[in-house]
Amino acid sequence: MLVSATDMLQKAEAGHYAVGAFNLNNLEWTTSLLRAAEETQSPIILQVSKGAGAHMGGFKCNALMVAEMLKSQHMTVPVALHLDHGTYEGCLAALDAGFSSIMYDGSQEADFETNLKNTAELVKLAHAQGVSIEAEVGGIGGTEDGVTSRGECADPEECKRIADLGVDFLACGIGNIHGVYPDDWEGLQFDVLAAIKEAVGHLPLVLHGGSGIPDDQIKKAIQNGVSKINVNTECQIAFADATKAHFASGEVDKPKGFDPRKCLKPGFDAVCDKAKEKIALFGSEGKGWN
Ligand code: 13P
Repeated sequence: MLVSATDMLQKAEAGHYAVGAFNLNNLEWTTSLLRAAEETQSPIILQVSKGAGAHMGGFKCNALMVAEMLKSQHMTVPVALHLDHGTYEGCLAALDAGFSSIMYDGSQEADFETNLKNTAELVKLAHAQGVSIEAEVGGIGGTEDGVTSRGECADPEECKRIADLGVDFLACGIGNIHGVYPDDWEGLQFDVLAAIKEAVGHLPLVLHGGSGIPDDQIKKAIQNGVSKINVNTECQIAFADATKAHFASGEVDKPKGFDPRKCLKPGFDAVCDKAKEKIALFGSEGKGWN
């Protein structure tokens, strides 16, 4: 059964480790991530962006797929299905579809007051269904149309105002960005992280753009209150690299080598291995149900 992400993240915050939130890209991707969680006995958050959700048949299809896989893969560790960067309407659709966790990305709104008002409404709706909710303060940068923007840092006072609405975990910009980090990236802003943690107390914090951040910075972020780390790009790169190598090896030209279940398997195994590597780095190995 899918669970809300609240309990697993409160335990992570208290235990000074983080739970990986891995984006889904298709059915086999989901299988690989669940396998990684079960083999490491780690809780896991499977998250779906609007675009990937549509690619996989829509939110209802996503929720049914994951719920059925929990049974067919005999999962024994806690699994949450989370909406990544939802709009207000997207959150309503994910709640209706049976997601066990949602993110309302109010940083997309024109002003902070709209973010505050919509977050307050969605906290009530989510909690009425036993669903956990993540909010966001301060934009997460990234590359769009070839232009890379620097990650915007969140204002600790705004974080406190959003935290006081009763959200279960909070995404806050601390210089992190989505996608591949540029060579001149300045690193995570630990002074900002410390000020936010001071303002919000034990509320679990979320680090978006978890791909490509040096391991020492990841560990320091976890020690300073980050309890959920989002990873997508590194899994995608692992898939692409393994798939390219397999096609270059000539295996695809052997009898039945063209079967997609065969020729894409090395890529999906690489996603599983990458997720296991991250789970070990984040310290959530063996923390299923603890
Ligand atoms: P990356 O693709 O940079 O790992 O970021 C994932 C993410 O933050 C999804 O919200």
